[in-house]
Amino acid sequence: MIQMKDHIAKALSEAVGISSDDVKALFTQPPQPAMGDIAFPCFQLAKTLRKAPALIAGDLKENIDHRLANPSDPLAKVVDRVDAVGAYLNFFLRRDTFAEEVIRASILAGNRPGASEEGKGKTVIVEYSSPNIAKPFHVGHGFSTFLGEAIANLYEYAGYNVERFNHLGDYGTQFGKLIVAWKRWGNPEALKEAPISELTRIYVKFHDEVELLPDLEDEARQAFTRLEQGSEEEMTLWHQFRRVSLDEFNDTYERVNIHFDNMNGESFYAKMTSEVVDLLSEKRLLVESEGAQIVDLEDHGLNPCLILKNDGSTIYATRDIAAVLYRDRMWNFFRNIYVVGIPQINHFNQIFAVMEKLGMPNPERNVHVAFGTVRFADGVFSTRKGNIVLLDELLDAGVAHARAIVKESHPDLGDAEIDEIAERIGVGAVRYTYLASGRERDILFSWEDILDYEGDTAPYLLYTVTRCVSLLRKAEPFVLKRLEERGFEDAALLIGDDEQRVLKEIVLFPESLAAARAHYEPSMMLRRLMQLARAFNTFYHSTPILRTDDTALVVARLALVQAVERTLKAGLRIAGIEPVDRM
Ligand code: ARG
Repeated sequence: MIQMKDHIAKALSEAVGISSDDVKALFTQPPQPAMGDIAFPCFQLAKTLRKAPALIAGDLKENIDHRLANPSDPLAKVVDRVDAVGAYLNFFLRRDTFAEEVIRASILAGNRPGASEEGKGKTVIVEYSSPNIAKPFHVGHGFSTFLGEAIANLYEYAGYNVERFNHLGDYGTQFGKLIVAWKRWGNPEALKEAPISELTRIYVKFHDEVELLPDLEDEARQAFTRLEQGSEEEMTLWHQFRRVSLDEFNDTYERVNIHFDNMNGESFYAKMTSEVVDLLSEKRLLVESEGAQIVDLEDHGLNPCLILKNDGSTIYATRDIAAVLYRDRMWNFFRNIYVVGIPQINHFNQIFAVMEKLGMPNPERNVHVAFGTVRFADGVFSTRKGNIVLLDELLDAGVAHARAIVKESHPDLGDAEIDEIAERIGVGAVRYTYLASGRERDILFSWEDILDYEGDTAPYLLYTVTRCVSLLRKAEPFVLKRLEERGFEDAALLIGDDEQRVLKEIVLFPESLAAARAHYEPSMMLRRLMQLARAFNTFYHSTPILRTDDTALVVARLALVQAVERTLKAGLRIAGIEPVDRM
C-alpha cells in the first residue's frame, strides 16, 4: 500500500508539476469503497493551472489512462483503473499487487507488525497504578494499572525508551494515625495473614475512636512529626507497613505481568521539597496566604497551588513538583505521562502551570491522561456493603465466570489446563473492558457482556486467534514450506472481496497504533483489531481455506491467516492480553 501510494504520487507529480510529497498530502479516501481506494482532489491545482478542478481531473484521467494502456509502464502494475468524478480523481488499486504488497510487508514484519524506531533515543516516563500504602488496591487503581501498561507498551513498540513509574502513596499525615492505631489495636497475626485489610481495619477504627477521644489527633500529629524527623520507632513501623503493603501489591502485579522500573513513592520526593520551596521563592512565586505559602495561578485560570501549610509541612502537590524536577533532571524526558483519574485534573493542571512558571523548557511534555470511573451492573458484586471493590476480587470473579464457560465447552480438559485458560480469558476480558471504550467514559462491568464470545470482547479476539492458530496447525508440511518460501508471491491470488477487506484492515493496523499513541487511547487500536477480527471471520465463513486442490491458493489464504494471527497477537499483547492457543 505504501509503495503503491508512492507510485501514484510520482505519476501525478510528473503530470501536474508539484512534489510527490505534496501530492500525497492531498490524498484522501473516497466516501465509499465502491468509488475507489485513493482519491486525489484537484481544487488546489485550479489556481496554479488556471483551470476548473473538474477539467483538471478529466485531463489527469486521460494522462493516467494513456499510461495504463502500456502494460510495461510500472504504473500499470499498481493501478487497475481511474475515474474522474467531479473535482476528484479516484484510483482503483490492482488487487493482486495490493495483496502481494500487504503480505510481503507482513512477512517482513514477522511478529512485530507496525513496530517502528520512531522514538529512538527518546525517553518516555509513564506513571501509573500508584496505589496507596495500607489502603486497598481497588478497581480504580486497576484502571490506571491496565491503561498505563498499554500506553507504555504502545510507546515501547514505537522504539521509545519507556520508564514505568509507580508513584506510591507512601507519605502523609495518615501514617501518624496508622502508627498510633497500630500501637493501640494492631494485631500482628492479622497483619501477616492479610496486611492491607488489617491496616484498613485499624485505620477505620482510628476514625471511629477519635470521635470519643479527640486527643488521638494530636498524638497522630506528633507521631508523624517524629516519623518525619527519622525517629527509629516510627520509621520501623512505617517501613513495615510499606513492605507488607508492597508485598500484597506485588502479588497482583505478578499476576497481571506488570513490572515497574521505578517505585519511588511520595516519601522519596518528600526529601526534595525544600528545593522546591527555594526555587519558588527565588523566582518570587511564593505568596503568603493565611499563614500558608501558595503559588498564585490566576493567570492560568486556576485556583492557587498550596505549597506549604501554615505549620510548614508540605503537601501532595509539593511532592509532585519535586518529582517533575527530579525526573527531568535524571531522564530529560520526551514525555512525562500521568495515568490518573479525572478527579485529579485540577491537581495536574496546577502542577503543570507551576512548572511553566518555573521556566521548565517545553512544559507540554507533561501530560495528564485522565480516565473515568468503574461501575458494576446489578448483581455483579451485590453481596457487599460499602462500595470498594478490590481489583483482585474483580479479576477472581472474571476468572471464575470464564472457568465455567471453558469447563462446559471442554469437558475433556484437566483442571490445571482449564485453570490456566480461564485465568487468561478472565483477566483478558477484564483488561479489555478497561481499555476498549474511550478512557474518559465510565465503564460498566457485566459478566455476560464482557465474556460474550460474539461481542466486542477479549474472548472474541482470543477466539479468532485460536482459529488462525488451528488452521496453520492443520496445514500440510509442504504447504507450510511453500508459505515460508514464497508466500507473498502466491498472495497475488487474494483478489476476492472478503480477502481484500481483511487485507485493508491489516494495512490500517500501524496507523491505529500511531493514533492510539497520539491520543493516549489504546481503544483506537482495539477498535481496529475488532474490525480486523470481524472481517477475518466473514472471510473464514465464506471461503474454503484448506479445502481446495489449488496449492497456490491454499498457500495464499494461509499467508492471510498468518498475517491476521500476527496482527491480532501483537495488538493483544500491546493491550496486555496474553493470547491462548485453544479455548
Ligand atoms: N496515590 C494516588 C491515588 O491513589 C495517585 C497518585 C497519582 N500520581 C501522582 N503523581 N500524583 O489517588
